[in-house]
Formats: sequence, structure tokens, C-alpha cells
Amino acid sequence: MARKGSQPRSARRRSSEKGPSPPMAGKAPAGSNDRQARMEELRRQIDATDLELLRLLNTRAGYALDVGRIKRELELPIYCAEREQEILTRIGKNNPGPLEEAAIRRLFERIIDESRRLERLAVQGPGSSCKPGEE
Ligand code: PHB
Repeated sequence: MARKGSQPRSARRRSSEKGPSPPMAGKAPAGSNDRQARMEELRRQIDATDLELLRLLNTRAGYALDVGRIKRELELPIYCAEREQEILTRIGKNNPGPLEEAAIRRLFERIIDESRRLERLAVQGPGSSCKPGEE
């Protein structure tokens, strides 16, 4: 018998409902424990992958910061449209999936945006614009 509280009230049989329980009552469907275990393992892999992504994103940001410092020394602009296009094209060509190209492009556009923002902050410091709310 399932413990009280392990199921929603609506799923529990009332003591007033007489007769034997149906054969599958209170049992998980066949194979559901295996699936649960597999799902937990996959989630552990997702969590580990997230930490790898976090490390790689910060490694990339560190390189971008160094590029930003060199741009400052050479008095070059932070924004370089050709370089951004080159990155997005290479990423698109090397995408093995299952993420579709448009999705990868959106992700990398976001990464580049944040990288450009970081370069600007490092090179110019916050609030270098005369326009309030602009970086
Ligand atoms: C970058 O690779 O992070 C990057 C490239 C071009 C930019 C800004 C950032 O204009």
C-alpha cells in the first residue's frame, strides 16, 4: 500500500472503496526505474557540460580582453564587423548539430556581444558615453 502523502490526494483510494486493488495499483510502469536512472545520469552529464561551457566561455572572454588591450594600444576600434562575420561563418560551417545553424548563430552572436561589451568596459571603463544609460 502506498504511504499517505506519496501520491496526490486525488490519486489515493478511499477506505470506503471496497474490494481488491487493481493489479498495477501504486506501481510505476515497466522500465520506468531504468528510465528515471538514465534521466538522472543524463542530467549529471548536462551539469558537467555546463561547467565545461562556463570555463570555456571565461577562457574565451580572457582572450578577448587581451585583444581589447592590444586594440587600445594600436588605437583600433573595439567593433570589427569583418572579424565577427568571419567567426560566425566558421562556426556555421563547422556545426555538427543537432543545434541548427540559426540557433548556433544566435548563441555566438550573443557570445560576441558580451565579449565586445567586456572589451569596451575594460578598455574605456564604465560610463564613458555622454548619453545616460549607454555604455
Ligand atoms: C570576439 O571574438 O569576441 C569579438 C570579435 C569581434 C568584435 C568583438 C568581439 O568586434
